Amino acid sequence: MLPIVTYAVLPHRFTPGAKGGRAPAMLLLLFVFSAPCGAGDQDFREQFTTNYKNFQFNAQQKLIKKTEAKTMQAEIHALIAEAMEPKKTYPQRMYLLDIASAMASGYQHWHGDIKALTQKIDKLMQMELKQEEARIAKLMHWKKEERFLGNFVMKEHMEEMKKQNMAPVLYPHWVHRIWFECKVCHQDIFIMNRWRNNISHQQFDAGKQCGACHDGTMAFGVKDKKQCNKCHLAGKTEAEKLHTLSGVNHEQIQAVAKRFGAEWNLKNLPGGNIPIDKFGFIDWLSLKRNKVFNPIHSLRKNYKHKVRSNKILFESKGNLDDVIFDHEIHSNWIDCSSCHPEIFLETLTNDVKMIRMSKGKHCGYCHGKVSFTFASCKRCHNRKKGAPRNNMLIHKGKNSE
Ligand code: HEC
Ligand code: HEC
Ligand code: HEC
Ligand code: HEC
Ligand code: HEC
Ligand code: HEC
Repeated sequence: MLPIVTYAVLPHRFTPGAKGGRAPAMLLLLFVFSAPCGAGDQDFREQFTTNYKNFQFNAQQKLIKKTEAKTMQAEIHALIAEAMEPKKTYPQRMYLLDIASAMASGYQHWHGDIKALTQKIDKLMQMELKQEEARIAKLMHWKKEERFLGNFVMKEHMEEMKKQNMAPVLYPHWVHRIWFECKVCHQDIFIMNRWRNNISHQQFDAGKQCGACHDGTMAFGVKDKKQCNKCHLAGKTEAEKLHTLSGVNHEQIQAVAKRFGAEWNLKNLPGGNIPIDKFGFIDWLSLKRNKVFNPIHSLRKNYKHKVRSNKILFESKGNLDDVIFDHEIHSNWIDCSSCHPEIFLETLTNDVKMIRMSKGKHCGYCHGKVSFTFASCKRCHNRKKGAPRNNMLIHKGKNSE
């Protein structure tokens, strides 16, 4: 019997500490990349690979026996070289190294000692695996940071940042909301959309985007070499303070607020802690009710505060309570132009549906991304059916798409 040892250990190699069930799927995926190529003896490699994939132990044994040691060694080296080409992806690389490893153990059994080569392949595979794990861990790290409502990881210029040894940027909405209403930034400084601003230092240097405030006076500057990592910290341990509330420095928040006439009234903070909802996100309305903060509305001198003071009733068709949309609360914080006309036409006939909201439309443009999430049904469905309507407007629905 030919002991193709590598095959037996294969699943463990691909899934260290993970569910074993992933290995076969991974293998299938790997075979997709098994395009034949350049150096070495193609016929031999093809036959070897076919036998290997199909558990053809006897055929494999015959093949190895009749192939010259020299040919096999050359093929193993060719496989390694090919695997380590810079452009190869992780699955492609692991696939080729695994074939090389199987070939080497076949060789070892029928032609003689090549321990050094076997070890080299093992080392390469382990190294690749480690790198892949690190890459995935990094991705998960970013995910973790974005899980805190309103935190965005910015990495459009990943390549340029890498070149300067900079981590991607973590933009925390919540930190800024303490001092600034949405209106300060949307739409004066940023279009309220993650993919439309084309953010870059070139624009900062012209006093735009982050550079509108991060100028070294109002906030730490974008050109200050000692401060780069205050923004470029996604995936690093220092980012922790931007997705947990445990280390909030109230004195600093207060000092920053004083700089431009905002407020942070520590004495009004219930229990001295920032109030959170049951999902662990900041309860901004409670902060507002308790007059803990008082953000500024605009950086512009000619700014005119515009509020629409009415409520719009969305009658629920099912068992759930009705929904009130409070124009006043919303327009106090948010500019009309942030919602109209892109998210809602200025009518009562928008076709508002939960399913669309969950895809980021209508109320879902903000709720679930920056404002409280849809898991909090009762925060929107909070008005008993048939309760007095006073002067409320009634949403009519269904007109536009
Ligand atoms: C200090 C500036 C600032 C303030 C204040 C601010 N935002 Fe933003 N907002 C941003 C930036 C930066 C982006 C991302 C833009 C980009 O990536 O191009 C953004 C993006 C968004 C997006 C787009 C999300 C998406 O998936 O496309 C929404 C929604 C949003 N903000 C809502 C709000 C709301 C609601 C408020 C007030 C509670 C607010 N923002 C306050 C800076 C701000
Ligand atoms: C106030 C936050 C902030 C600070 C401070 C900051 N950056 Fe950035 N930087 C950004 C943002 C936002 C981007 C765009 C990220 C993206 O989407 O790719 C960026 C992008 C970059 C890029 C990509 C190319 C470009 O010009 O946009 C480089 C390189 C970079 N920063 C280097 C630095 C260096 C070096 C420093 C310190 C001298 C620094 N940054 C300080 C926020 C900041
Ligand atoms: C409207 C003004 C304004 C804009 C626009 C703005 N910031 Fe800020 N930001 C501030 C102020 C003020 C602070 C508090 C500075 C301080 O602590 O001295 C701050 C703090 C931060 C912090 C927290 C740093 C820490 O360690 O506590 C990060 C990160 C940050 N900004 C990133 C950004 C990025 C990235 C952008 C652009 C996408 C941006 N900011 C745009 C005003 C702004
Ligand atoms: C957070 C988003 C949001 C903001 C900000 C907002 N609106 Fe609206 N607006 C709505 C929604 C939702 C409706 C109802 C849509 C429906 O029923 O189909 C609406 C409806 C309207 C209507 C038709 C009903 C009515 O109230 O007469 C007008 C007019 C209007 N908005 C004007 C404004 C003006 C002016 C501002 C700024 C002062 C503003 N809106 C700010 C979301 C917003
Ligand atoms: C442009 C962003 C935006 C849109 C669109 C939006 N909201 Fe809000 N909403 C906010 C912000 C910001 C708050 C403050 C609370 C928070 O951030 O968690 C808020 C708070 C609320 C509250 C609590 C305040 C209150 O009125 O008692 C309700 C309820 C609410 N929104 C319902 C809705 C409904 C229903 C819609 C759609 C018809 C909607 N929102 C659309 C940004 C938005
Ligand atoms: C941000 C506010 C908001 C939150 C949070 C919210 N809803 Fe809604 N929901 C609405 C609005 C607005 C409507 C539209 C009412 C109508 O049909 O005119 C609606 C409609 C509905 C409808 C009627 C069918 C439909 O698709 O229009 C159901 C069912 C519903 N919601 C269930 C839920 C459940 C369950 C939750 C919690 C998991 C929830 N909603 C959370 C705002 C919200």
